[in-house]
Amino acid sequence: MCGIVGYIGNKNATEIVLNGLKKLEYRGYDSAGISMITGGKLETYKKKGKIVNLENAYDFSSKISNVAIAHTRWATHGEPSEVNAHPHVSSDGKISVVHNGIVENYLELRNKLQEKGFTFKSQTDTEIIPNVISDNYDGDLLKAVIKAHKVLRGSFALGIISSDEKDRLVALRDSSPLLLAILEDGYMIASDITSVIEHTNKLIFLKDGDIVDIKKDSYKIYDSDGNEVDREVTEVDYTDESASKEGYDHFLLKEIHEQPKAIEKAISLRHNDYVLNDNEDIFTKEELKDIEKIYISACGTAFHAGEVGKYAIESLAKIPVISEIASEFRYKNMFLDEKSLVIFVSQSGETADTLAALKEAKRLGAKTLAITNVLGSTITRDADKVIYCYAGPEISVASTKAYTTQLIALYFVAMRIAKAKGQIDDADIKNIIEALEKIPAQIDEILKDKENFKEIAMEIKDSNSIFYTGRLLDFITAKEGALKLKETSYIHTEAFPSGELKHGSIALIEPGTPVITVATQSKITEKTISNNQELIARGAKVISITNRGNDFVKDASTNLVEIPKTLDILTPLLAVIPEQLIAYYTSLSLGNDVDKPRNLAKSVTVE
Ligand code: AGP
Repeated sequence: MCGIVGYIGNKNATEIVLNGLKKLEYRGYDSAGISMITGGKLETYKKKGKIVNLENAYDFSSKISNVAIAHTRWATHGEPSEVNAHPHVSSDGKISVVHNGIVENYLELRNKLQEKGFTFKSQTDTEIIPNVISDNYDGDLLKAVIKAHKVLRGSFALGIISSDEKDRLVALRDSSPLLLAILEDGYMIASDITSVIEHTNKLIFLKDGDIVDIKKDSYKIYDSDGNEVDREVTEVDYTDESASKEGYDHFLLKEIHEQPKAIEKAISLRHNDYVLNDNEDIFTKEELKDIEKIYISACGTAFHAGEVGKYAIESLAKIPVISEIASEFRYKNMFLDEKSLVIFVSQSGETADTLAALKEAKRLGAKTLAITNVLGSTITRDADKVIYCYAGPEISVASTKAYTTQLIALYFVAMRIAKAKGQIDDADIKNIIEALEKIPAQIDEILKDKENFKEIAMEIKDSNSIFYTGRLLDFITAKEGALKLKETSYIHTEAFPSGELKHGSIALIEPGTPVITVATQSKITEKTISNNQELIARGAKVISITNRGNDFVKDASTNLVEIPKTLDILTPLLAVIPEQLIAYYTSLSLGNDVDKPRNLAKSVTVE
């Protein structure tokens, strides 16, 4: 996904927009650019690479302006380059556009416009947009955008300015996130809260089809037919601090350390004195009773959280749960009907594959529940019911606190379903919540063991491949550890079910191959450990993550990471912490960009 930001008002738009853009860099960072109207002219500056490259290439201190738009890119159509960077300008040089999303019919439109004499410089789909607007322009930018929107197909969050209308900023939201921020002096448009929160907490989360006509001291919102509409102003409780590093070297380290507090908050908001409260937007006991099939779907780390949720629901509610990654779910015959409940997990609430799977589930009549971390995100509008992670802004591309707070949300969903099905009682719920309440302090204990994780990182950082193994819930934690490490260190990692290794994958083991085994589930730890022996017999360097007191694990490991004991079903909350820190320190030791790993973006809003 990309990040877009714009400002119009009496302050210095160039400065406001460049600062706001830096807060969006986690959304995509292969090139960046800015357009402003300064000295009566439309000027556009772009650079490949991170925003700092753009700032170093030009002296923006003289580019005083009252209206500006900017963009930081995660490439879809066209390689990362200066010419493909946004903003894109119409071939007459008058209209500049920043875009997050995709133009599906850009080729047919491009051919038509080329026949009319329009010219194109880039390989991008986006460059078609300012030219379609230009083709429809007859002196009113808003009307031209409304007409252009009718011929464009795809997903759009747009910021548009024109040299012919110097005191106007037009914005459009259609299937890509965009908000309007109301400042004391002027207005901002932005892809998400982080780029405006230092200026205001008064936000309008625009709806699909909304077109905003913004002047320095006023705005109007129209639907796609040009009818004026009203939109609610939300006052959010984010602070700029929550979107800054607060003394940590990286957002990833900060967010790993924020987990105890985030988990504590996520637990406390869901019960009153160990009685589940009903302040969450979920299905009633009667609605849950009618549910015959439950599914969970998501992508990446969110999918791993969903798989832990699957185990929690199955073990507590005694009902089978089908989990499937969203990019498969949407095309598979999942046998959904109105007696199905599908739980979608998404930190950003903008992941295209997850949103597409959600739309398919609704089309087939299923009830849908979304678990997300971002207020006002698209998923909050598409799902029947929404519950939040309460993790606060997660900036680092590698997801950590969102993962563990997604687990908390799923544990409470599992308890609610199990209670509705009569499978557990208040005493069971109290027992689970009491164990959950110990988790924050137990995570703090693990965080203190950082020297051990630094040493492990130094031992494994030069490996060609690193494997993770585990059984049942431990296999899910192994998958999450493998993903964390590969996406931050760029080392090839893979997770295997411990019992499966001997059926082929053990051929990959060479003397010194690091294997990180997760062995926490009491009833199968011994089985996992016997698999460790098979690995050690072939020279593997086995690092075991296990519960304190499992001394027999020590004899079948070359390194041992001990975590505090909790309920088996809750152990993923603890076992993932060493994995997160091992990934962090390995990435750091390799000199990688820990928060913005190559080729990645915080949320993938394209399919
Ligand atoms: C996790 O560390 C990755 N950044 C990635 O797998 C992520 O979890 C996935 O893209 C899903 O994102 P979402 O939770 O915002 O939908």
